[in-house]
Amino acid sequence: MAMEVGSILEFMENKSILITGAAGFLAKIFIEKILRVQPDVKKLYLLLRAPDTKSAMLRFNNEIISKDLFKVLKEKHGEKLNSLISQKIRVVAGDITCDNLGVRDSLLLEEMFKEVDIVVNLAANTDFDERYDILLGINTLGAKHVLNFSKKCDKLKVLLHVSTAYVCGEKEGLILETPYKMGETLNGTIGLDIDAEKKLIDETLKSLKAENYSDDFIQSKMKELGIQRARKFGWPNTYVFTKAMGEMMLGHLNKDIPLVIIRPTIVTSTYKQPFPGWAEGVRTIDSLAVGYGKGRITCFLGDPNTIIDAIPADMVVNAMIVAMVAHANEANETIYHVGSSVSNPLKIAPLQDYGQRYFMKHPWINKEGRPVVVGNVKVLSSMESFHTYLSIHYLLPLKGLEMLNRACCQYFQGIYLDMCRKIKFVMRLVDLFGPYLFFKGCFDDMNTEKLRRAAATDKSVVETDTFYFDPKIINWEDYFMSIHIPGVVKYVFK
Ligand SMILES: NC(=O)c1ccc[n+]([C@@H]2O[C@H](COP(=O)([O-])OP(=O)(O)OC[C@H]3O[C@@H](n4cnc5c(N)ncnc54)[C@H](OP(=O)(O)O)[C@@H]3O)[C@@H](O)[C@H]2O)c1
Repeated sequence: MAMEVGSILEFMENKSILITGAAGFLAKIFIEKILRVQPDVKKLYLLLRAPDTKSAMLRFNNEIISKDLFKVLKEKHGEKLNSLISQKIRVVAGDITCDNLGVRDSLLLEEMFKEVDIVVNLAANTDFDERYDILLGINTLGAKHVLNFSKKCDKLKVLLHVSTAYVCGEKEGLILETPYKMGETLNGTIGLDIDAEKKLIDETLKSLKAENYSDDFIQSKMKELGIQRARKFGWPNTYVFTKAMGEMMLGHLNKDIPLVIIRPTIVTSTYKQPFPGWAEGVRTIDSLAVGYGKGRITCFLGDPNTIIDAIPADMVVNAMIVAMVAHANEANETIYHVGSSVSNPLKIAPLQDYGQRYFMKHPWINKEGRPVVVGNVKVLSSMESFHTYLSIHYLLPLKGLEMLNRACCQYFQGIYLDMCRKIKFVMRLVDLFGPYLFFKGCFDDMNTEKLRRAAATDKSVVETDTFYFDPKIINWEDYFMSIHIPGVVKYVFK
């Protein structure tokens, strides 16, 4: 069926949008974009975790509007920005792990149920190995609370939920934009039941607390439980497992709400708008760049032929906006992979080369004001070669140092602990990102391609230029060398 998009700017005029997780990386880019391109939006309700409106407002001022990301908007509106914000922004203290998203102000709640046209769920916990109870609460049950909230919005046109392409686990080949069925698992193991998972969590926590274990111990046990449950059903980590269950929850409980699930791949800094290279936080592939640029990594790991599916954040946000317009008032569920592995694949080998060349040419200046000179790195193209390298270069010398330290009454304790810390850091990176460095899948983006075509034919060239999300336009070398890595150095290196 031909998809119709119509004018995005006209659609957004006079609409009210609820955005959860408003202080997050993608949410900020989404908020900035709407305010910049369609200031005639009616209202943006920004849900932030905070005990009350005053603290939420403080978070809005400190963590959102004061960011560099908003400088173009500030230039555009000058003095008038404050009045735009006070007219269009309504900061809401809440928490998606609670009923009614934790909004306690009943008048505000009533107003939102009456006014909200679109719900955009960007709240999530993206830590790969956070505690199971926390990740299930936010990524799975939180999605359910957002759906229940959306059902109560009288004028709701669409619920847009942001998931991740890696809910597919470590699948190989072409991964389709298909929904999850409730209880579906990646390895065919039967018995995945979200209520039972919640019960397991509650019982485990109860018994750990009854035994009076320390908070640290409980924390590590809850992390272990998550990994164990994820791996039992075929997912590599608790984050993607709970995100997959979030999708199941939405698909299962939704009967008649227009639902769009966006699955971005690895989100990188902005490509073009509001300006190139805005980044925040150390994310997935950037950990390697940060580690290398800071002189902490002397080898790269990954199959040189693996496709690293990167997609700039502004393209993800543009795809979200176009999809929410395209599916408004359509009572069905549509999944979009927003990535580049099919349209403009980028292999690990050139990516490693870009990182190495960049930091050799532009060494990072450390806190002492000294350039960190980086050298050639050894490329380890399999896990076996990684383990051999680690043993020869680190674990054996560490063993020697440990013995020497013991013989010398802890004289080398400082060096020994430093070496342990470095090895732990590398092992953690490898454990977390290993599956992505040897990933054999590609994310089919047929739906996203159809959306692109519909957006391109239906509207003026101006709108297509505003809501660009075609990764084919990216020259990866130019993007990484001139936009992404400099952006990460500017905004992320500390
Ligand atoms: N960035 C990526 O590379 C990437 C890739 C694929 C998919 N995604 C998906 O894209 C979405 C947004 O990601 P992001 O990178 O923008 O994440 P992010 O920067 O970590 O932002 C997530 C936001 O959610 C908020 N949040 C967490 N728990 C909440 C709760 N219980 N109630 C209300 N808000 C809560 C956090 O609030 P606090 O500030 O209070 O902690 C945070 O501001 C997520 O669904 C993620 O899975 C991201």
